[in-house]
Amino acid sequence: MEPGGCLRGVIRVPGDKSISHRAIMLGSLADGTTQVSGFLEGQDALATLAAFRRMGVDIEGPADGRVVIHGVGLHGLRAPDGPLDMGNSGTSMRLLCGLLAAQPFATTLIGDASLVARPMRRVTEPLARMGARIVTTGQGTAPLSIEPVPALRGIDYPMPIASAQVKSSLLLAGLFATGRTCVTEPAPSRDHTERMLAAFGYPVERAQGRVCVHGGGRLTGCTLAIPGDISSAAFFLVGASIAAGSDLLLEQVGMNPTRIGVIEILRAMGADIAILDPRDCGGEPVADLRVRSAPLRGIRIPEPLVPLAIDELPAVFIAAASAEGETLLTGAEELRVKESDRIQVMADGLAALGVPVEPRPDGLSIQGGAWAQSGLEGARAPVSIDSHHDHRVAMSFAIAALRAPAPIEIRDCANVATSFPDFAALSARVGLRIRVV
Ligand code: S3P
Repeated sequence: MEPGGCLRGVIRVPGDKSISHRAIMLGSLADGTTQVSGFLEGQDALATLAAFRRMGVDIEGPADGRVVIHGVGLHGLRAPDGPLDMGNSGTSMRLLCGLLAAQPFATTLIGDASLVARPMRRVTEPLARMGARIVTTGQGTAPLSIEPVPALRGIDYPMPIASAQVKSSLLLAGLFATGRTCVTEPAPSRDHTERMLAAFGYPVERAQGRVCVHGGGRLTGCTLAIPGDISSAAFFLVGASIAAGSDLLLEQVGMNPTRIGVIEILRAMGADIAILDPRDCGGEPVADLRVRSAPLRGIRIPEPLVPLAIDELPAVFIAAASAEGETLLTGAEELRVKESDRIQVMADGLAALGVPVEPRPDGLSIQGGAWAQSGLEGARAPVSIDSHHDHRVAMSFAIAALRAPAPIEIRDCANVATSFPDFAALSARVGLRIRVV
């Protein structure tokens, strides 16, 4: 990454990762055919797709974001011929864990070095209360061995953390359970599962932070248009905000209220983000976003926004490093158990770039303003940053090059392909000085 530059033009980021996973899962369990457009052809969503193919679901594509799923019905999955590899994808593993706990065959879920280090008891424990039999390692991690049981029973589960993966895992198990499965959230988390179940004609009760499904219904195949992923758009929202002279239009970005924390945070920091032509896209709100550079100031990030911006916080840290004054994040201990320990890994990278940063158990403080734009381009030796195989860390530091006072070399970037395979080409097209080695 060469320092400096700005972002200008019009781009469309790839489809939403969370929604792409759910489209494959619910489409596979539906009666009839589901037509999907805007599917994210990234490794994570493709791991979910491959798993369902191996359980006997006929899936055409993906071709240019189009997927056709020939659903087998709620009880039509077949035993796979071996362990299902979820790669780097926590969403695949946790959601499938709930769904597979209810199948009449055994399965084993495996993943890469990052995924097998991530906590799985958050799903296996409540699923066990429903009657599931799932064996983890002694540390509560994958591989997960899921054994068939005669039946699951619905439970009423107060979730200790605001996690859409836990909520969705239980709701998917609840489709097969006897009686009613209810999940109460301590704070709102993304609600794509609830919305998509409704799109497939499955009744979902929702009231005041509580969501319930009754087992034994059916899903009916439908047409889904997946909006652009706001988590991918976030890198450009930050990049265009921090790089003087930027003016970028991001088309068709998902604007689900449970996902737009990043816009609220950046606006509170002074970002100039206009929401244009808000509209509906198959049960999910979307809009075009125009972002122009603006002077940013540090803020104390409100804790209720943390679950609504959880995946975008690494990018927000880059905005904070470019802002005047201190930014303080608290209540975000979940960042420590993402694809990497995003508090430590981001703090280490920022420190390497000369940003005063102090990690805390549940967040960090960042002193902005150390980066000056002018006169430093090419003046310093490259700073090498280890992304710890974390896609969002790698893309955050790529965007940082727009303001950082030195070239940045980011190592271990292959996992960018899990969520945003054409990040380098797309970002170069709008002005990022990026070179993939
Ligand atoms: C996701 C939920 C979030 C998020 C992840 C995707 C989902 O995880 O970080 O990238 O699709 O449900 P948690 O449920 O662990 O917060």
